[in-house]
Amino acid sequence: MAGYPYEDRFAVNHTLPEKGRPREEILAELATMAEEEDAFWETGKCSGTMYCGDHEHYGFMNEAFGRFAHVNALQRDMCPSQTKFEAEIIGMTLDVLNGDAVTDAQPVGVVTTGGTGSILHAMLAYCEYGAQARNITQPNVIKPETAHPAFDKACHLFGIELRKAPVDPKTTQVDVDWVAKHVDDNTVALIGSACNYGYGTVDPMDELSDLAVDRGIGLHVDSCLGGFILPFGQKLGYDVPVYDYRLPGVTSISADTHKYGYAFKGSSVCTFRDKKYRNAQYFFLTDWSGGKYCSPGIEGSRSGGILAATWAAMVSFGWEGYLRYAKKIFETSAAMQDAVRSHPELSMLGEPTFLFSFTSDEFDVYHVNDFMRPRGWRFNGQQYPNALHMAVTRPQTQEGVAEAFAADLAEAVAYAAAHKDEPAKSGAIYGGVAGGMTNEADEFIRAVMADMMDEQQALPL
Ligand SMILES: Cc1ncc(COP(=O)(O)O)c(C=O)c1O
Repeated sequence: MAGYPYEDRFAVNHTLPEKGRPREEILAELATMAEEEDAFWETGKCSGTMYCGDHEHYGFMNEAFGRFAHVNALQRDMCPSQTKFEAEIIGMTLDVLNGDAVTDAQPVGVVTTGGTGSILHAMLAYCEYGAQARNITQPNVIKPETAHPAFDKACHLFGIELRKAPVDPKTTQVDVDWVAKHVDDNTVALIGSACNYGYGTVDPMDELSDLAVDRGIGLHVDSCLGGFILPFGQKLGYDVPVYDYRLPGVTSISADTHKYGYAFKGSSVCTFRDKKYRNAQYFFLTDWSGGKYCSPGIEGSRSGGILAATWAAMVSFGWEGYLRYAKKIFETSAAMQDAVRSHPELSMLGEPTFLFSFTSDEFDVYHVNDFMRPRGWRFNGQQYPNALHMAVTRPQTQEGVAEAFAADLAEAVAYAAAHKDEPAKSGAIYGGVAGGMTNEADEFIRAVMADMMDEQQALPL
């Protein structure tokens, strides 16, 4: 059985403590863990995940959160503030995604708990709308293979058939002809990423949009990762294709406030071109003995803190703030990409943006990871082909980080070339947990999950 983290320093609560502990003691214990864990990413060597990294901003959001932490955002009669926050978060997100280009319908949205939540809401909406408007009982959607596993999860949960379209190995963009051939009468929506998690590339959304219009079906753009950075990159003149509501076939876009929106984890926005999609997924039960129940989305009760903090983050930055940070991120990403391109042994996958991914035909690129990890770098590992990706965030824009990356990468490439005949130690697991991948990958993943969950939750014998 795996040990509990921190068991060498702090008591483990296998059961509810008989007596409560003093608050100061608890807060001191929390401070120790938080400070040690923050030190890992504060170096700027960790890909993605810590999009903001600014403790002053975190403090500000904590204050906003604290004012409404105890409020239940479901009980709107008691908290009109939550209606204001949610409506304005959606309005500001639609502004960033060029919602004003929609003239034939009313764009709307729902604030959800994260990227997965937004994707679930979109898929549910297409499924329900397909049933209500087109009598579809066995819906299917088509996603590029590179689109996030949250789509697979949504299809698994809602009983939707998922068709996976191949991507061009060079550009990493979806094969639109394949998509066109696989649309049928039960297709409720197409999916494209702007950008995808793996390569930071944008699917040919104009072509997908034309196809969606032509076939009279939905097109969901997953901009969970890119939604609060690519539009600012576009404004700054970077080469980012149009993928938002300016395209007539785009019927929904997910954009995560809890990523490059710099809000706390637990918030994302699922926007819809036309409220008919959002309205299709409302749930209500009018004949329950407990009263008439309705909820605008999948969640029931939610803390008002998250809506307050997300709203506070967005209005504290505005266009000016987001543009300022995007500029630094795009510049840093370009400098890091130059470092990769300076090594002929490495090759960049597709045409990346703020997030880039590289592989090697000379050696297993995980050797590069093996060398960089002890230097404090945490990349995200990929497979088919083996590749490493770096989602550049604000911590990387600190002085000296791009330079350190270039220097460590040069040594890592030499190390990889010298060890190319040996198997690499690390492998591809989403989220950067690197471990040896074998043919028993399923068993391995189950063991990792068990380690993280079951065994630590079990009572000691
Ligand atoms: C492109 C993309 N879509 C969806 C998600 C899922 O987001 P979340 O982890 O917030 O559920 C991610 C997460 O990284 C992502 O990169």
